[in-house]
Order: sequence, then structure tokens, then C-alpha cells
Amino acid sequence: MNKNGTLLLLFLASFFFACTRKISPQSQGGSGTAKIDSTKGLKDYYGKLFPIGVAVTPRNLQTDEAGLILRQFNSLTAENAMKMGPIHPEQNRYFWTDADAIVDFAQKNGLKVRGHNLCWHAQTPRWLFKDSATGNDVTKEVLLQRLRDHIHNVVQRYKGKLYAWDVVNEVIADDSATYFRKSPWFQICGEDFVAKAFEYAHEADPNAVLFYNDYNTEQPVKREKIYRMLKKMLDAKVPVHGVGLQGHWSVNNPSQAELEKSIQLFSSLGLQVQVTELDISVYSGRQGGQLIQGAQQQGQQAQFTPEMEQQQLEKYKMIFDVFRKYQKQITGVTFWNVSDRSSWLDGRGRKNYPLLFDASLKPKKAFWDVVRF
Ligand code: GLA
Repeated sequence: MNKNGTLLLLFLASFFFACTRKISPQSQGGSGTAKIDSTKGLKDYYGKLFPIGVAVTPRNLQTDEAGLILRQFNSLTAENAMKMGPIHPEQNRYFWTDADAIVDFAQKNGLKVRGHNLCWHAQTPRWLFKDSATGNDVTKEVLLQRLRDHIHNVVQRYKGKLYAWDVVNEVIADDSATYFRKSPWFQICGEDFVAKAFEYAHEADPNAVLFYNDYNTEQPVKREKIYRMLKKMLDAKVPVHGVGLQGHWSVNNPSQAELEKSIQLFSSLGLQVQVTELDISVYSGRQGGQLIQGAQQQGQQAQFTPEMEQQQLEKYKMIFDVFRKYQKQITGVTFWNVSDRSSWLDGRGRKNYPLLFDASLKPKKAFWDVVRF
């Protein structure tokens, strides 16, 4: 063979090698044997099972993250833009710009949108619980009227563009002695505001799938309390259709057994189950609503160590194995933030690495274990 022929052969061989590397799971650091196509995103691997979503800010949609979002996800949640404080800052003024930007992006690109959220004790506007003339707390009647106006205005604006809403967020207390969280909602209205919120949302959009959303849903005592509240509402024909397990988990929480119990218990009520705010902290402990272990070390920079990488990968693999096992009950999985470039957990003491994409938006090893099945 002459020199040109040898060069051509070498070129073809290296081209072939590059192509096989692209689809070889081993080259992605994974342990399975199935063929992986790295041109596919999470939404494609899970396309027949359930939508895979991500919580975003309008800013995420204007940077290089937009490309990653479109390639990997087929559902969006507004990280903050639809919460009551940001979207309804004054009694007679709504701020639609950010929420509209997210919904427009989704419409343009054919993504689903989950609304988040309509009634929560946190990120509330200042005016909400107070009588502006006296400065005192408003009465139950006034507060329920305000809740109704808010829900009607927000839900109707996005009617037909959002398929689901987290109607009520985090009303069950964490401590075992207390049933309901002692929020201003509860203090002014008792338990009634929860059912009312669902009724108002259903009036405003009868087609929307309505969720109760909470964290620590795999903790037995809290799980029982949530179950009790949901059962009571269903018995009273309140239009609640699903339960959101937030999924702010960590390398040592939850166990497979507790996660499965929660999915089984909630779906035994005939409710859909969605994982609505998934991330896996590289530090141990429960995250949602509480300080995670080590959070007192304010401002410390932390490395993503090989040990963290391995523990996180095993947890991601376990939970996605469970999600696929319960694919009939689970109707959506949404990640909370796009990549390790920035996560809400960074604000809890030290840098965290809770997602499937690193700061340069490349898939981490855990990604390959999630898509290999
Ligand atoms: C809760 C809320 C979310 C978000 C996270 C932390 O889980 O439901 O909207 O605020 O806390 O970012």
C-alpha cells in the first residue's frame, strides 16, 4: 500500500474509533453494559416513561444553559417567578414579566410547564396577611378572598399553557408532635385554606392537574400526616390529583425502602406521584426545610471528591431504578436547577454539587447511570 493509502486507512480507523467512543458507556465512566447514545438527552431516554423537567430562572434561558435545557428536558418549572411574593408584590399589582418569559420559552420550544406554587408560607408578599389600615392580621374571610383572587388571576393567565400546578406547598409540620405547620395561613384560617386553595385552582382551570407538594415525604411520621390530610380531602371530594415529593435528597437519604413506601402509600389513594424538585446533596442529612449537616461551616469552598461522586452516583442510580419500577404511578420528574454551576444549596453554607451536569454543563458520571437501563 502506498503512503496515501496508509494515511487514508489511518484516518478511517481513527474516525471509526471516535464514533464507537461516542456510544460506549465505558468511555462515560459507567458500569453497565447497554449501549448509550450520547446524542440523546434525559427526555429522550425517559420519553416513554414520564417527562423530565427542570426548574429555571428567566436568566437560564438566555445563556448557554438554554441549549442544555432544550437538549435534556421537556418540562419547565419556574424556580421563583410564579411564587406569590415575586408574581403578586402588591395587592393590586402583579409582576408577570419573569413568569411570562418562562412560559413563552416553553411554548416556543414545545415544552410542558408545571406551575409552582399558589399557596406557601414562604416567599409571600408583605401585604398578604395584614390589613393595610390597621396593621392587624386580616380575618379568615378576607384572607381566603385574597387567596381566591390570587389563584384565579394567576391560574387563568396561564390556562392551557401549564398542565399542572403545585397548589399548596409544605403545610405539614416536621416535628412529630405537631400536625400542621404554624404558619400565618394556619393561624388565621385553621386547616381550611388547603382545601379552599384546591377548589379555587380547580374553578380557575378545571383541566389542570393539582398537586400537594412537600419535602421529607419519605420520613415515616411526616408521610403519615401528609397521607392523613390528603385522604381527608379526597373523602370530602376536594379536587386534589397528585402529590409532589420534592426530592431534595442527599447521598444518605432516602433509603430505597422508604422511597418505595411513599410512592406506594400516596398512589394507593389514586393520586399521581411526581418528583418535583430533585437534587442530591453531596453532604449527608435531610435537606428540605432544615439545615443540612455541615451547613454551619459558612462560606467554605468544598471540592467534589471522588468519594462524593461515587456516593451520589449510587443514590441517583437507586432512585431512578425506583422511578422506573413505579413508572405507572410516577407522572413526572423535575430537577431543581440546571447544573452544578449554581444550586439553591450553595446558599446553605458551602458549595454543593447536587445535579447531573457539572459547572461546564457536561454530564457527570451519575448521568450515565441514570440513562443506562
Ligand atoms: C422548597 C420550595 C421551592 C424552593 C426550594 C429551595 O422546596 O418548594 O420552591 O424554594 O424550597 O430553593
